[in-house]
Amino acid sequence: MKIAVTGAYGYSGKYIAQRLLAQGHTVITLTNSLNREHPFGEAVPAFPFNFDNPEALAQSLHGVDVLINTYWVRFNHKLFTHADAVANTITLFEAAQQAGVERVVHFSITNPSLDSPLEYFSGKAVLEKALQESNLSYAILRPTVLFGREDILINNIAWVLRHFPVFGVFGNGAYRLQPMHVDDMAALAVGQAAENKNVIIDAIGPETFAYRDLVADIGRLIGKERPIVSIPPWAGYAVGACIGRLMQDVFITKAEIEGLMADLLYVESPPAGNTRLTEWVQCNADTLGRRYASELARRRNRDKAYVFT
Ligand SMILES: NC(=O)c1ccc[n+]([C@@H]2O[C@H](COP(=O)([O-])OP(=O)(O)OC[C@H]3O[C@@H](n4cnc5c(N)ncnc54)[C@H](OP(=O)(O)O)[C@@H]3O)[C@@H](O)[C@H]2O)c1
Repeated sequence: MKIAVTGAYGYSGKYIAQRLLAQGHTVITLTNSLNREHPFGEAVPAFPFNFDNPEALAQSLHGVDVLINTYWVRFNHKLFTHADAVANTITLFEAAQQAGVERVVHFSITNPSLDSPLEYFSGKAVLEKALQESNLSYAILRPTVLFGREDILINNIAWVLRHFPVFGVFGNGAYRLQPMHVDDMAALAVGQAAENKNVIIDAIGPETFAYRDLVADIGRLIGKERPIVSIPPWAGYAVGACIGRLMQDVFITKAEIEGLMADLLYVESPPAGNTRLTEWVQCNADTLGRRYASELARRRNRDKAYVFT
């Protein structure tokens, strides 16, 4: 098949493209970062998203059988917003239909809801609905937190554990997460690219953690056990804002804290991946959190790989 993957020079898209190439498919990528360093040589040609030129976007998708869509923005910022990402993704779905794409494998989030006060979750729900109402065959995958070498959240928890004598969790820290390894996510997406049924799948890993336990496990496994203290969410946000300012990044947003504390990264579904976060952390204990992973650095510098090798 000919498969278009968004962001193949980025995080999850890179693992997806690697798997597709290994299966012998023709792969192209749509990206904002045409010149980002990547491991594919000439094997994955890049085309700009062209959200402001839907005809050109449809042209790039000509002959494509399946679109695997990872495109989204993590938070609202002066340079990008969830509302833009929703509008752009609808343009992408329309261009895919115009180009004759048959199926879309779409990355969403656990617990999307049209009524959610959190734009991440309501925006994802709008997109799920748009895809379901289109003529496209679809697989909607709903990941919680992804982990892997290029990850931000788990890496930066480890970074804080390495650099601070104590770790503050928002409130009681009892809200849960079910982290999924990025390559398990890629395997799920690639598997679904070859199917034709309309499905919605919660993409969660085999382990469920209370946030407080997740932090404790990471600390123990990287040899940086710290006292874990409950702090009011506003205080956690204030500390996060200071870290963000120091690192010229957005460390965590109020909306992300609210989503986490509302248990929105937890679902009661069977696991869709096998890789255990605890085993992965153990294998990567020497490198995890050694360097701060910056969301904004990835947006400011569109040439550098997500992870420096
Ligand atoms: N990472 C997680 O822990 C996690 C958790 C739950 C759900 N998800 C979902 O999984 C999908 C993939 O996530 P990922 O972490 O693998 O993403 P990613 O590779 O960092 O980015 C995916 C695509 O979105 C584009 N993009 C990201 N931020 C952008 C911004 N601020 N402005 C413009 N374009 C932007 C990237 O642009 P370039 O082409 O320039 O790289 C890339 O094409 C997303 O839909 C996300 O909502 C991820």
